[in-house]
Amino acid sequence: MISPMIVLGIESTCDETACALVRNGKEILSNVVSSQINLHNQYGGVVPELACRRHVEILIPVLEEALTLAQIPLSQVDLVAVANGPGLVGALLIGLNAAKALSLALDKPFIGVNHVEAHLHATWMSHSDKIDFPALGVVLSGGHTSIMTLPKLGEYHVVSQTVDDAIGEAFDKVAKMLQLPYPGGPPIEKLAAIGNPHRYPFRAGQVKGQPLHFSFSGLKTAVLYAIKDQKLTEINPADLAASFQEAAFSDVIKKTCLAAEQFQCAKILFGGGVTNNQHLRKMFAERAPHLSLYWPSLGLSLDNAAMIAGLGYFKYQGKSDPYDLEAFTRKDEGIGKG
Ligand code: KG4
Ligand code: ZN
Repeated sequence: MISPMIVLGIESTCDETACALVRNGKEILSNVVSSQINLHNQYGGVVPELACRRHVEILIPVLEEALTLAQIPLSQVDLVAVANGPGLVGALLIGLNAAKALSLALDKPFIGVNHVEAHLHATWMSHSDKIDFPALGVVLSGGHTSIMTLPKLGEYHVVSQTVDDAIGEAFDKVAKMLQLPYPGGPPIEKLAAIGNPHRYPFRAGQVKGQPLHFSFSGLKTAVLYAIKDQKLTEINPADLAASFQEAAFSDVIKKTCLAAEQFQCAKILFGGGVTNNQHLRKMFAERAPHLSLYWPSLGLSLDNAAMIAGLGYFKYQGKSDPYDLEAFTRKDEGIGKG
């Protein structure tokens, strides 16, 4: 039995420091995200040491802003939910230890939440009146690419994932090759819009004996060689971006359709930053009209703490997690926990 609750969510898995207050699992009272993009942009990717330092500096101001915007005093928080993985270990520990300290100081329970699962929960929060279960989940983010089955609200089972690079990571690396800023997804999407998606015959990798698994490392390398093989004057960045994007998204659509068939499920929830890509949404709608597609709303697609608070509410079963709860860094650890 789930009781009315105000949940404080904390997110610090990578390069966003975020706090949110959510009432009863889906009513977002505040959702504050402090992005470190400007800090890491000059390096073309996230520098873990810098990310950790910034989390330490900014977490308390972000928390204060979230409380102020929600007009909720800290004493009214009933539960502290924190993303305890997967992510960068140092970054995770900052959010996790803050959550434990708050829980102790407030004498309120705390709960660890899986960040990847929370990305899918964000989509349920965006359309909670329309989505029922079972459903399938597709996570496309900077650190993760996976397909999951969702038998019921709050339950996740991993069906497949990437065996090398995540799809967002491939976008970020290809952007770097094309001298575009970090994160690479938005500039690639923009450039691809004026390019020819069929100029280069790129293809995403297929994993032997695992038709639903993903592999983007070979695709990324193919782009690199296409750049190297051409004279500087012949390189057309827009065609490269469009052809790369076409190959990556065609593969995701193919494998999602296959999973839908295999699990006899036409309801697909998408999560993660790459799902911000409007071209992806258009391609899916055109190529998979038989599926019901649910995308996260703006503000819930990139890393945020509202999705952590929202999922924490449903994971909490009246018992606090122990104070020795650890952070987990790997993609497959902790999935389906609780
Ligand atoms: O979910 P997210 O905020 O963080 C992780 O959990 O990893 O996703 C960030 C990723 C980055 O790799 C970024 O390049 C990608 O999402 N991304 C996009 C777009 N917007 C963000 N990729 C493709 N197209 C976009 N419009
Ligand atoms: Zn994420």
